[in-house]
Amino acid sequence: MKKGDELILKIEKMKYPNIGIGYVNDKKVHVKNVLSGQTVRCRISKNRSEKRIGRLLEVVEPSAEEQNSFCEHYGLCGGCLFQTLSGENQLRAKFDMVKLLFDEAGIEVPLDTIMESPSLFEYRNKMEFSFGDEIKDGPMTLGMHKKGRYHDVVTVDKCHLVDEDYRVILRAVLDYACEQKLPKFNKNTFEGFLRHLVIRKSYVTGEILIGLSASTQPIYEDGTLFNQAEFVNLLRGLPLKGEIIGVLYIKNDGVSDVVQGEYDVLYGRDFLYEKLFDLTFKVSFYAFFQTNTAGAEKLYESALDLIPELEGKLALDLFSGTGTIGQIMSKKAKQVIGVEIVEDAVASARENMMLNSIENCEFHCGDVFKVLSEMTLSPDVIVVDPPRSGMGEKTSIKIAGYGVEEILYISCNPKTLLEDLMVLSRQGYEPVKMHLVDMFPWTGSVESVCLLKKVSLNDSL
Ligand SMILES: C[S@@+](CC[C@H](N)C(=O)[O-])C[C@H]1O[C@@H](n2cnc3c(N)ncnc32)[C@H](O)[C@@H]1O
Repeated sequence: MKKGDELILKIEKMKYPNIGIGYVNDKKVHVKNVLSGQTVRCRISKNRSEKRIGRLLEVVEPSAEEQNSFCEHYGLCGGCLFQTLSGENQLRAKFDMVKLLFDEAGIEVPLDTIMESPSLFEYRNKMEFSFGDEIKDGPMTLGMHKKGRYHDVVTVDKCHLVDEDYRVILRAVLDYACEQKLPKFNKNTFEGFLRHLVIRKSYVTGEILIGLSASTQPIYEDGTLFNQAEFVNLLRGLPLKGEIIGVLYIKNDGVSDVVQGEYDVLYGRDFLYEKLFDLTFKVSFYAFFQTNTAGAEKLYESALDLIPELEGKLALDLFSGTGTIGQIMSKKAKQVIGVEIVEDAVASARENMMLNSIENCEFHCGDVFKVLSEMTLSPDVIVVDPPRSGMGEKTSIKIAGYGVEEILYISCNPKTLLEDLMVLSRQGYEPVKMHLVDMFPWTGSVESVCLLKKVSLNDSL
């Protein structure tokens, strides 16, 4: 086998994140965007003794478990990966992928189950669509990046992960942009205007917050930008089930392809209200909030069930976002201290406390490592819910340094969870319970919950 060779491969198993594994003469080949049981044709793009990678050219034969997908964008759109599996089989696929990741790293985790999302369709409360084109210099599109492509964008106005309101708004904004000949932003030359459309819709209250991310470059010869009042009227005139409570223009001149920058509020307000259990949360535009509201209740409930004895305790809610986990814990704990880096999210968390008549929480703004280093604390329980990049070694060691009996780790990325667990295990913490919650049906993502207990260093992994 050498680089450039084409070969037919049977995918034997999957490892997180979505890496198919097949064998050629006992040599392992990794292929992305495949499913276990498929026979695929691939071209070897890397051939090293420690790693061989095949680039998928074609699925020659589907796996016996596969059925028709339910979405017309499936295959092209980079969002979903498991639509040709049944709900049950995608759960098993996710469980097996995560299990193999840990097994191959030689880390024993007591992974016992994967919980299904309460809704399999239209479950998302936020979507970020990109403006672009499907083929170079083709007509403007608005939607998701094509599978495996950085530049190409597929219009996803039939997407089943969001409800009808998202589809109506997406279509209307794209039609308007085309009619008005508003230019899309070019990621190579940094010229042009339209970049992203962000839609947040509360699953419970139905409030809709829309953010148009675009450059500040003038569009018309007289130096003017787009007609903001007309844009707002267009959106407010749409036949929607929910109610638009805010429209923002995000002035995004950044070089990276992310939604960022200050914004002007063109209409209404820059936050919406969402509910979890009996708690109300004000969610500001940039604040993190779990994208599957009903799934978040299942996630938090199943996670916090692992630490039932919170009475009289001081609990830390690290990477606290809008303070969801902290406020749920505050019902039992004596006191909760949250730490979060996004200022808006911290401001929301503080307001949320008042909204929910909670007095035993405090939220601090800043990097977890830094804030903890500046405080003297003796917590009893620590809950961490870091971003995809994980906590990192320095912060993991800092947290282990408190010596609490239990650390509850909630993670949206099993790979960084694994890395952090390795650090924590060297500090004397052992995973004693772990389960997964499928917060993102049909996609390759999954949420993990892991309870760690302090053991003597000699007993740890
Ligand atoms: C996965 S979210 C969890 C939020 C919250 N626990 C929830 O469930 O809604 C991760 C949060 O960590 C915050 N964050 C990222 N890096 C951070 C850091 N170095 N220090 C503090 N917070 C950070 C992000 O802004 C985000 O709100």
